[in-house]
Amino acid sequence: MKNILVTGGAGFIGSNFIHFILSNTTDIHITNLDALTYAGNPENLSDLKFDSRYKFIHGNINNSQILDGIFQETPIDNIIHFAAESHVDRSITDPLLFIQTNILGTANLLLHAKRYWTGLDSQSKSSFRFLHISTDEVFGSLKIEEPAFTENTPYAPNSPYAASKASSDHLVRSYFHTYDFPVIITNCSNNYGSYQYPEKLIPLVISNAVNGESLPIYGDGKQIRDWLYVQDHCEALYTVLQLGTPGESYNIGGNNQPTNLEVVQMICKILDEFLPGTKFIPHANLIEFVKDRPGHDRRYAMDITKIRQELGWQPKETLESGLHKTIRWYLDNKDWINTTLGKEAHKNWLTQNYEGRGEEDK
Ligand code: NAD
Ligand code: DAU
Repeated sequence: MKNILVTGGAGFIGSNFIHFILSNTTDIHITNLDALTYAGNPENLSDLKFDSRYKFIHGNINNSQILDGIFQETPIDNIIHFAAESHVDRSITDPLLFIQTNILGTANLLLHAKRYWTGLDSQSKSSFRFLHISTDEVFGSLKIEEPAFTENTPYAPNSPYAASKASSDHLVRSYFHTYDFPVIITNCSNNYGSYQYPEKLIPLVISNAVNGESLPIYGDGKQIRDWLYVQDHCEALYTVLQLGTPGESYNIGGNNQPTNLEVVQMICKILDEFLPGTKFIPHANLIEFVKDRPGHDRRYAMDITKIRQELGWQPKETLESGLHKTIRWYLDNKDWINTTLGKEAHKNWLTQNYEGRGEEDK
């Protein structure tokens, strides 16, 4: 039996990862440490309530007492660190929270994890891994003609979110070089799929479209993201955990690089197919161009040669197939999304982020 400590497992990628591990293995136990911020939803894992291989701990990565308790109680073999503030727009309105969680929280987790690891016997020490989940945003923005980001692209973060993630990556990296602590960093592109909080583009557009509300596109909608289906990401992370080399970083991407406008148009077309009886057809009529995000990165693209050649992973889903699965999931899980949409805090966020953006002439 192996014990994995997952941080931030009640969020979007973390909850998909926990489901992925528990359904694809028989010998792994998961301890999930999550502070349950607005983005953490216990409902994402409610089916695991009685699973003896799953344990939930409500707590903050900045809380040393909680971390000590976990390391005293459970012989942890691997840590997968997802916990973070993850929304770029929120980092623009509240940057200090991102420093608190993404930088100081990671620093605190590293401190305790390394202290625990130091006390292990040599076999457990050498098989231990600290897998840090980072983002392509640390590399900055690409011009149209520039090649995709590789693991050697210099860091140039542009938003407070990206800067906080870059800073945490540097801390993680330093633990390998200074203490030989066996860390691995993965930098992945934009994920989409089930359980994604509806502040992010794809779930926001799906839920707004279904409800006949406008679909806000920042600026001219020609920004490019590299969309990765979350199940593909989970498979990549498990591959890296098993086969990755400590001290290395791996880029993970989806080989899908459409503009935001194209993504939204694809969603609208799929909804037209899935909901032939709705009065909102064609859903594309709901598209509205609004004031741009400050400092909005123009283009991300991931070169995934290293993980493909060295570890044998590549994404299985196309954007078309992944979006079909994702939209089907949101249509089949209306209660899940409606619970979040009904929360006061969520409504306040929408007002704060979208009111006053107005409509752009495009
Ligand atoms: P999310 O916002 O959906 O979930 C974050 C989770 O972390 C939540 O459950 C939240 O409660 C928890 N959390 C926040 N602060 C915490 C704290 N101080 N202590 C303990 N738990 C805390 O995020 P996500 O989209 O699932 O992203 C997970 C990780 O992947 C993040 O590190 C993010 O930077 C990275 N990432 C995300 C994407 C993406 O497209 N979503 C892409 C690249 C990298
Ligand atoms: O690239 C990886 C990153 O992807 C992760 O590190 C972040 O945690 C994750 O949130 C995501 O960041 P983005 O800013 O790219 O994702 P978001 O879904 O917020 O936006 C995707 C694109 O769509 C981006 O160009 C901004 C645009 N957008 C977003 C929203 C919410 C709009 O045009 N309208 C919107 O209402």
